[in-house]
Amino acid sequence: MTLSRQSALGLYVHVPFCARRCEFCAFYEVPPRRADVERYLACAERELAELHLPRRAETVFWGGGTPSILAPADLERLAGATLGASGGTPEEWTVETTPATCRADRLAVLKNSGVTRVSIGVQSFDEAILAGLGRLHTTAQVSEAIGAVRAAGIGNLNLDLMFALPGQTLEEWERDLRTAIAAGPEHISTYCLTIEESAPLFARLARGRLSRRTPDEEAAFYERTWDLLEAAGYRQYEVSNFARPGYECVHNLNTWRMREWAGVGPAAASQLGLRRYANAANLARWAEGVEKGAPARTDEVILDEATLATDAVVFGLRMVEGVDLAELAARFPSHDWAEVARKASELEGQGLAEFDGRSLRLTRRGRLLADEVALEFF
Ligand SMILES: C[S@@+](CC[C@H](N)C(=O)[O-])C[C@H]1O[C@@H](n2cnc3c(N)ncnc32)[C@H](O)[C@@H]1O
Ligand code: SF4
Repeated sequence: MTLSRQSALGLYVHVPFCARRCEFCAFYEVPPRRADVERYLACAERELAELHLPRRAETVFWGGGTPSILAPADLERLAGATLGASGGTPEEWTVETTPATCRADRLAVLKNSGVTRVSIGVQSFDEAILAGLGRLHTTAQVSEAIGAVRAAGIGNLNLDLMFALPGQTLEEWERDLRTAIAAGPEHISTYCLTIEESAPLFARLARGRLSRRTPDEEAAFYERTWDLLEAAGYRQYEVSNFARPGYECVHNLNTWRMREWAGVGPAAASQLGLRRYANAANLARWAEGVEKGAPARTDEVILDEATLATDAVVFGLRMVEGVDLAELAARFPSHDWAEVARKASELEGQGLAEFDGRSLRLTRRGRLLADEVALEFF
């Protein structure tokens, strides 16, 4: 298998601190108590120092939580340890921020460290919707944050937006999209609200105070999104992601292409060599493991060709470019590619995919049903 020899390598660092949990959020995060931040930084430094990546990481992604909640001196510390582990300045280095924490002093540290891409979690430009989601920012703070990113000289800006939010109409969503486009970011991510059991919103669902959108309602939001962003010059390259040409997120592309990534910090996932695992999603348990030199890991799987090949098809089909089955067959020769080709022809017959015997990509209708299509391959 060619995976470990020539694949792109990404480094993900999870920074698990948030000022308050948002109503929709199921990511691992805790309040930024000073003692916890100190312990986190010391353990992240150690985990990074002991990582010994097999080669240089082309991309780095600091996600969260809220990496930008860290003070400038803490960011500098984490950046130094990250650069020590990555084996050189990465070509792309993304940092996730919230509007209230995306500020000049922190951005200056990030820019000086080599950060190339900043992502701001805007979610909505509607004050009432923001308040209902438990977000701690106003739309005025979003404009300030965007101005601060530009003033810091960071030329690749992403805005995260969410749709199908409680009470949100298609017209309100369209207004959000137009406001985002007018702000001129290089990249826009648009996520359809999902409500997991661990998210505070789930309690409202369970009590019948909130109902889920129907698949048809969600499809209407997706289609409005795709039409508007394409017309504004943002090329869709994945179900939820749009970019001006040349500004696609390489780190995320490499995960959908089933390349390799190393994860540092609580809850961070890794796929390295033929192993896939996640760090414990608990700050204390993760830190104890790092301090003892015995990392606390969960969900460890030894990957076989069939698993990797199936994941490469399923995640690859989320990308607009689709997958090159001949290339995948060369990477994973023992997989049952005849069966994949049979399913591909079936999808084509249903108008869900285009297949020329080698390259397979979903049609717009196929992309709307990407989760159902995925089930066909598992
Ligand atoms: C891990 S969050 C980090 C960004 C930052 N903490 C923030 O919230 O602004 C990344 C993005 O995932 C999206 N997201 C989080 N929870 C979601 C959910 N339940 N459904 C859909 N999108 C979600 C949001 O757009 C969010 O900005
Ligand atoms: S959505 Fe972002 S800011 Fe809100 S709790 Fe989740 S990680 Fe933190």
